[in-house]
Amino acid sequence: MPFKKNILCIGAGYVGGPTMAMIAYKCPQYKVTLVDINPSRIAQWNSDVLPIYEPGLDEIVKKTRDRNLFFSTEIEKGIKEADIIFVSVNTPTKTFGAGAGMAADLQYWEKTARQIQRHAESNCIIVEKSTLPVKTALAMERILTSNANDICFDVLSNPEFLAEGTAIKNLENPDRVLIGSRETPSGLRARNELVEIYANWVSKKRIITSNIWSSELSKLVANAFLAQRISSINSISALCEKTEANITEVSRAVAMDSRIGDKFLNASVGFGGSCFKKDILNLVYLCRYYGLEEVANYWEGVVKINDYQKERFVLNMLTAMFNTLAGKKICLFGFAFKADTGDTRESPAIFISRRLIEERAELVISDPKALDNAREDLEGLNGNISYIEDPYEASYGCDAIAVMTEWEIYRQLDYRKIFKSMTKLAFIFDGRNILDHNELFEIGFNVFPIGKPPQTHF
Ligand code: UDX
Ligand code: UDX
Repeated sequence: MPFKKNILCIGAGYVGGPTMAMIAYKCPQYKVTLVDINPSRIAQWNSDVLPIYEPGLDEIVKKTRDRNLFFSTEIEKGIKEADIIFVSVNTPTKTFGAGAGMAADLQYWEKTARQIQRHAESNCIIVEKSTLPVKTALAMERILTSNANDICFDVLSNPEFLAEGTAIKNLENPDRVLIGSRETPSGLRARNELVEIYANWVSKKRIITSNIWSSELSKLVANAFLAQRISSINSISALCEKTEANITEVSRAVAMDSRIGDKFLNASVGFGGSCFKKDILNLVYLCRYYGLEEVANYWEGVVKINDYQKERFVLNMLTAMFNTLAGKKICLFGFAFKADTGDTRESPAIFISRRLIEERAELVISDPKALDNAREDLEGLNGNISYIEDPYEASYGCDAIAVMTEWEIYRQLDYRKIFKSMTKLAFIFDGRNILDHNELFEIGFNVFPIGKPPQTHF
């Protein structure tokens, strides 16, 4: 049976991969092809071990691969055949020139736009999936129409709100799907076409449409608001540590106000992930560009508090362990930026590791899914670092454990056994407040949570 439409996605990463797998799964009438410039990534997508760990993803890929989901490196062929092209290539923070450290590096985006312009053979809808600065769609349109030919391109913005570790759940049951378009007849037609794809499994009430700039901006703002909640609670955790307040109690009391709600109010060693910092810096850059210095400073504060929280964590360790970490062996429980993912981009564990090595500590890194990425992140660091998945083996003989990631397994360990095997005084720094601190203290550990009084035996 011929397919109704050909959907192409350029960029087979954390966003493109799961999103296209879900579309293929829910819409057998469409042929969905994912292409990527990285051949080894494509080979992994075509193998039994997918390039990303995401609960539920394996099953969906198994059901759809080679049925109506295909992975390939043939970008040009894909463009030629496509009716709808999603672009999900990475847009990291610029590391050079104007806006370095702040603005988005759009070189892959622009390259992709030019590729589409060169190889498209019929009218085509282009869907921005990557998070981008506001008005990127305009640049995309300009590039696409730069060589006047008869082909008509409509650019839509359809930001992805999935969170890693729950990507499949978020895709299957999204809070909302947002589609931004030009309000021209052809823009509206393109928008309806994309609405029809999502309507195969998402209720129309949850599919919202807007103008293209609102859609682009909404993604940056949603991430800025989420990150702002974490920085807010983390800033208060510092105050709790100076007073006799307890951040978990404060957080619970605040969260029970239904206007505030209970999500994203867990104090932590700091937020990580590929999006929060990058998107806030993008927003800050945009505000500065438009001369809105106060607004820019306000949002920049969210990133500053996050940096402060990570540094504070290291300084707390240093102070607790008698102002020297040199030669001490410290085990990190977790390296991923959050639980249920192997992703380590912007993980606080990277910063903490660097700082601990600067203090001349020895590190043992443990994580159920992220050790390969951890090795890459810390490559070239001049220090004594080992990587051991088993937490009992990893913490054996260590002076301290620092919890970096809220993996469920760390809650369920036999801490009596761990305590026996460690060098005393046996410290635990719980950067996620996930452990039973009273029990650990009773076992004999010296316990340092975030935003709560420490419990020590000395
Ligand atoms: C992407 C964007 O980076 C980010 O801006 C947005 O917020 C979410 O979508 P992600 O999927 O997590 O994030 O990125 P990544 O896993 O790095 O995947 C991007 C893929 O695009 C990579 O596999 C890369 O090889 C590919 N790519 C990059 C291309 O195929 N062509 C290019 O020109 C550049
Ligand atoms: C985020 C957004 O949630 C998602 O909608 C967007 O599409 C991409 O960016 P993600 O980066 O995958 O998703 O993870 P998220 O669950 O938002 O967590 C980000 C960071 O915040 C993690 O390091 C997490 O551990 C931390 N966090 C989260 C806290 O420190 N405290 C909290 O209460 C919640």
